[in-house]
Amino acid sequence: MKETVAIAHPNFALVKYWGKRNSNQNRPAMSSISVTVDTMISTTKIFKNTQLNQHQLFINGIEESDLSKILPPLEYLSEFSRTDENLVIESQNNFPTSSGLASSASGIASLVTAYEAHYDLCLDINHKVEACMLGSGSAPRSLIGGFVLMDHKNNYRCSQILKEPEWPIDVLICITSKDPKEISSREGMEISKKTSPIYQDWLDINDKHINLAMNAIKDKDMAGLENVTEENCKLMHKVMKTSNPSISYMTDVTHSCLAEIENLRSSGHSLFYTIDAGPQVKIICDPKSTEIIRDTIIDKTSVIDVVYAGLGGPPRIIDED
Ligand code: PMV
Repeated sequence: MKETVAIAHPNFALVKYWGKRNSNQNRPAMSSISVTVDTMISTTKIFKNTQLNQHQLFINGIEESDLSKILPPLEYLSEFSRTDENLVIESQNNFPTSSGLASSASGIASLVTAYEAHYDLCLDINHKVEACMLGSGSAPRSLIGGFVLMDHKNNYRCSQILKEPEWPIDVLICITSKDPKEISSREGMEISKKTSPIYQDWLDINDKHINLAMNAIKDKDMAGLENVTEENCKLMHKVMKTSNPSISYMTDVTHSCLAEIENLRSSGHSLFYTIDAGPQVKIICDPKSTEIIRDTIIDKTSVIDVVYAGLGGPPRIIDED
C-alpha cells in the first residue's frame, strides 16, 4: 500500500498573531513574522484507511478523538485530489506537543506536504497556505524556511524575508514544562478579542511592528530585532492578561529564564526572547554566545531542558527506508 511521509519544522513568531479576523475560516486578524527552526521536527505518514470509513489521526502513537484541526485542511485538499478516500495519519513530534512549541504548525504543514505528494497534486504555494491556515493560523509559515512574513493584507501570502543561511542566528528553546496547555490558542484568542480593552491597540500596532521587524531582518540588525520582538511579545501577553477571564501562560520558571536573559544581556551578550501561548522561552542569539547562554540557563534556573536549534528549511518528503 502506498505510504507517504513528510517532515516539517515548527516556527516561532517574532511579530505574533493573536486574534482571528474570521473564526470560521480561521483567518488571523494581523500579519506575522517568524523563524523556522531546524532541529525540532514533526514527521507525518499518511496512507489509505482500509479498516474504518473515516480519517484517523495518531499523534506520537496515541489516537486523537479531536480531528477539528485536520478535517478542514483535508476537506479543502480533497477538492484538488478529487477523492473522498479516508486516511490514517500518523504524526510524531521529537518535542513536547501542545505546550507552546508550535507542534500544530509543523504537524499541519507536514500533513499538507504529505497529502500533496501522496496524490501528486503540485499545488501552488497559495493553495498550500490556504490548506494549512484552515488547520492552524501559524502553520502556513512552516511551509517556508528561514525568516518568514505572512501578510494578512495580501491574502495571507507567505514569503521568505531571508534564507536560513543568510543570517546565521541560533534559537535556544527553554523547556520549562512538558504539560499540555490548559487554554488552547484558539480559545484564548477568542476570549481576548471579545474582552481585552487593549485588543484594538494590539491590532493597530501590527503594521508598525511588521515594518520594524522587516527592516531589522533585512539589515541583520540584532538590536533592532530585539526591541521589536520583545515589545511585541510583551504586548501580546498584556492582551492575554487583560482578557476576562485573565489568561497567563507563564510560570515561575518562565520568569526565572527572563531574569537570566537580562543578566546575560547586561554582561554584553547579544540575545533576546519571545514567548508564545505556553510557558516555554525561546531565546534568539548570536551563535558566539549560544554556549554560555545555554549553560547559564541550565545552571541558574529549573528548566527541564534547553533545546538548541538553528534556522530550518521548508517541509520535505522523506523516504523511510
Ligand atoms: O497557530 P495557532 O492558531 O495555534 O496560534 C499561534 C499563536 C501564537 O503562537 C501565540 C503566535 C504566533 O503567531 O505564532
